[in-house]
Amino acid sequence: MKILITGAAGFIGSHVAHSLLSRGDQVVGIDNLNDYYDPKLKRARLNKLTPNENFTFYKNDIADSDAVAKIFKDENPDKVINLAAQAGVRYSLENPHAYINSNIVGHLNIMEGCRHTDSVIKFVYASSSSVYGGNTKKPFSVEDNVDSPVSLYAATKKSDELMSYCYSHLYGIESVGLRFFTVYGPWGRPDMAAYLFADAIRQGKPINVFNHGNMMRDFTFIDDIVSGIIASLDKNITADDKGVKHKVYNLGNNKSEKLMDYIGEIETAMGAEATKNMLPMQAGDVPETYADIEASTRDLGYEPTTPISVGIPKFIEWYKDYYKV
Ligand SMILES: NC(=O)c1ccc[n+]([C@@H]2O[C@H](COP(=O)([O-])OP(=O)(O)OC[C@H]3O[C@@H](n4cnc5c(N)ncnc54)[C@H](O)[C@@H]3O)[C@@H](O)[C@H]2O)c1
Repeated sequence: MKILITGAAGFIGSHVAHSLLSRGDQVVGIDNLNDYYDPKLKRARLNKLTPNENFTFYKNDIADSDAVAKIFKDENPDKVINLAAQAGVRYSLENPHAYINSNIVGHLNIMEGCRHTDSVIKFVYASSSSVYGGNTKKPFSVEDNVDSPVSLYAATKKSDELMSYCYSHLYGIESVGLRFFTVYGPWGRPDMAAYLFADAIRQGKPINVFNHGNMMRDFTFIDDIVSGIIASLDKNITADDKGVKHKVYNLGNNKSEKLMDYIGEIETAMGAEATKNMLPMQAGDVPETYADIEASTRDLGYEPTTPISVGIPKFIEWYKDYYKV
């Protein structure tokens, strides 16, 4: 199979690419290597993929419709995974246009590529747990109403789900949207909590703890996310009652952890205690996420197996190696 992965130099994309190459698939990666966070880390992830002769890479922006159309025409992929996006809830308050360009225009261009390329039989894309916004019913189920986003990032992800449903309906593209819940692990994202906390501890700086530490997150280890993505790529999905083959699934750990316990695991693995700046809640943020994974387990066979007591030491082991701590 030839799989096109956007965001291939990103945290999740590079892991998925690696996993698909290991089982013998051909992978075509696209990434614009933007500087939202250190592009050196993106290049380092890519450097692990490029030696594989089944890996081809295009440095392009998915918001560039001509470039995307040409890659689809030249490569004729069998399946497509759209992971390229402007991520982060907090950054969307300062840089709203980046979210519309990558997450809306870019997403449309990838769907157009799927629509006009006969070889494409499956489309999988990243949504986010942030679509649940301030919902109070826990755990968050894919059946719940998600019409009240609290950040522009969440609004773009919900829009992606609607646009994808529409393309499945209009053009028969079999599609799966995946709502990831706070993913962490080796080669992780420097703007996310585990990495920020490890950085601060290494540099002897204080960490910012929002909502005075009263936060709960369903933290999901990268290997569990990768297995869920690959299952959704491989398994056929059934049509809904309107005959549309589009499904949305949660990929979480199905366990809401206290932020302070997560910090505790990081401190233990780093061998040092963090100085904590206890701060109020940030705009656009939510106090708790908790994934109901019943549908993902039933339809995809998704079963996360990694608690933070196992996942955090694996992340810190990579972190120490990467930074030669
Ligand atoms: N990591 C998480 O906890 C999490 C949670 C929910 C959803 N997601 C979603 O999962 C996907 C992957 O996230 P990630 O954590 O790997 O993020 P990441 O930032 O590490 O990866 C995204 C990659 O996409 C690339 N990219 C961004 N805009 C692009 C564009 N316009 N054209 C081409 N490349 C572009 C970036 O350079 C980056 O390498 C994203 O869609 C994100 O919104 C992630």
